Amino acid sequence: MPEITNVVEILINDHNLVKRLFKQFEQQNEKKVKLQLLVEIVREVGIHSKVEEEIVYPVVEMASMEKAAESYEEHHVVEEVMAELGNMSVLNVRAMAKIKVLQELVLHHIEEEETTVLPILEQTGANLNALGQRVLQRKQELKQLVSRKAA
Ligand SMILES: [Fe+2]
Ligand SMILES: [Fe+2]
Repeated sequence: MPEITNVVEILINDHNLVKRLFKQFEQQNEKKVKLQLLVEIVREVGIHSKVEEEIVYPVVEMASMEKAAESYEEHHVVEEVMAELGNMSVLNVRAMAKIKVLQELVLHHIEEEETTVLPILEQTGANLNALGQRVLQRKQELKQLVSRKAA
């Protein structure tokens, strides 16, 4: 199968992965597995957001300052909640509430991107495959950085 390089498809695939991880988190009863899933969610969302801000949003910004600004703000709120979660090592009631809110924020943001931000990106006439290549490469770099930090 040829590698997907269209940036829109890459981002939607990432979104679907994050949605799946949240679902698994909800359905999982084992605390240890839940914590592992949470770590994975935070890592995936973190890398995805960073790549969007570095490579995708600057292109969106040229077409719609407002939409780009709103997207940056949504990332900011998600980052704040994830940072707070990073300081919690047990899944107590407070942490579970935060994760629920995080899920709602992320799902809302994904919806916004897929219905408004990505269509704007497609209309800019930017080379979606070239952007996709950059996104894939940057994601790879960031993943290596994260795994080196975790080791
Ligand atoms: Fe996204
Ligand atoms: Fe985003």
